[in-house]
Amino acid sequence: MSDWLIYGANGYTGALIAAEAVARGLRPLLAGRTEPAVAELAGRLGLPHRAFGLGDAAAVRAGLAGMKLVLHCAGPFAHTSRAVADACLATGAHYLDVTGETAVFEGLAALDAAARAAGVMLLPGVGFDVVPSDCLAAHLKRRLPAATRLALGFQARGGFSRGTATTMAENLHKGGLVRRGGRLVRVPACWRTRTIDFGRGPAVAMTIPWGDVSTAYHSTGIPNIEVYSAAPWPQRLLARLSRRLGWLLGSAPVQRWLKRRIRLGPPGPTDEERARGGTLLWGEARDEVGRRFLSRLRGPEGYTLTAQAAVRVVERVLAGRCVSGFQTPSRLLGPDFVLELPGVTRLD
Ligand SMILES: NC(=O)c1ccc[n+]([C@@H]2O[C@H](COP(=O)([O-])OP(=O)(O)OC[C@H]3O[C@@H](n4cnc5c(N)ncnc54)[C@H](OP(=O)(O)O)[C@@H]3O)[C@@H](O)[C@H]2O)c1
Repeated sequence: MSDWLIYGANGYTGALIAAEAVARGLRPLLAGRTEPAVAELAGRLGLPHRAFGLGDAAAVRAGLAGMKLVLHCAGPFAHTSRAVADACLATGAHYLDVTGETAVFEGLAALDAAARAAGVMLLPGVGFDVVPSDCLAAHLKRRLPAATRLALGFQARGGFSRGTATTMAENLHKGGLVRRGGRLVRVPACWRTRTIDFGRGPAVAMTIPWGDVSTAYHSTGIPNIEVYSAAPWPQRLLARLSRRLGWLLGSAPVQRWLKRRIRLGPPGPTDEERARGGTLLWGEARDEVGRRFLSRLRGPEGYTLTAQAAVRVVERVLAGRCVSGFQTPSRLLGPDFVLELPGVTRLD
């Protein structure tokens, strides 16, 4: 009998996670809104399945019947997380997801009291964003407890999945986001650039509105947070152009065109591309008297890391490691959890 479920299992990321779960001897129930696609994957992996959409709250609650935990992989999560989280609160299942969307983290954090009352854990971000960066943030806070400024950054080799590209397209026109004095503050796209050595020599990076501007604050309490991504000049130029073209990029015809283009592309990196890819993360904590601590992480390609991290977090939660309410990966599992993932190393 399965007592946990992967929703959106037939998506690129959901299927990687399902395969990783099977490889580690777990038997999740696979779920999603498109029956034939979920049934085909379930047949291939020898797992049970269920099909239900997220439009009808009663159907979602029925879909979660008998489940202790849901690993939600159907994104963009701005459209899907609330329906699944509400059903989890109603049925008592713990909610985990692989979002990287700041607004989704903040929306779930706002459900903290309701989740505590229901005895349910809300643990978003158990993928590449935010497991390694959140653990790095917590590690830097441990090294410099008086830190008031945190900068995090990453450099990734490997492509995007359709779901990630769609999520990025939907947020193209929204500009940047940083944390200032504990509050989330809107800034222009590519607001700041800096040269960062992620571990392979200096690279120019730009600020991006990644999930960590939300989660690193919940994990560390550091009030000023910026997140950087290595970005070659064409990417920085496009980001700067988007400041003026936001109205156009967010318009319905351009969004439709972008999503059509994304659907025509491959579902995500191939196995060979993932094997060749890799991720480098960098973090810097500073305090008010000028102390500065740096740490770096090195790990496998982002989707591989997502599957490995998500399944290991699920294992921990099923083994009883859970705290009701809104949680972040490092708050629940500690700054060193990321070092348990295959191929992840840290350097101070
Ligand atoms: N934080 C991270 O590190 C990280 C890592 C990987 C992925 N992600 C995120 O995970 C999400 C999925 O990525 P992916 O690569 O798996 O995308 P994908 O291959 O396009 O798959 C998307 C999945 O979500 C389902 N879905 C989408 N909208 C839905 C809705 N409104 N109701 C119910 N199901 C819905 C799809 O169902 P159908 O097939 O029926 O359309 C499919 O199963 C994206 O938002 C991506 O950014 C984040």
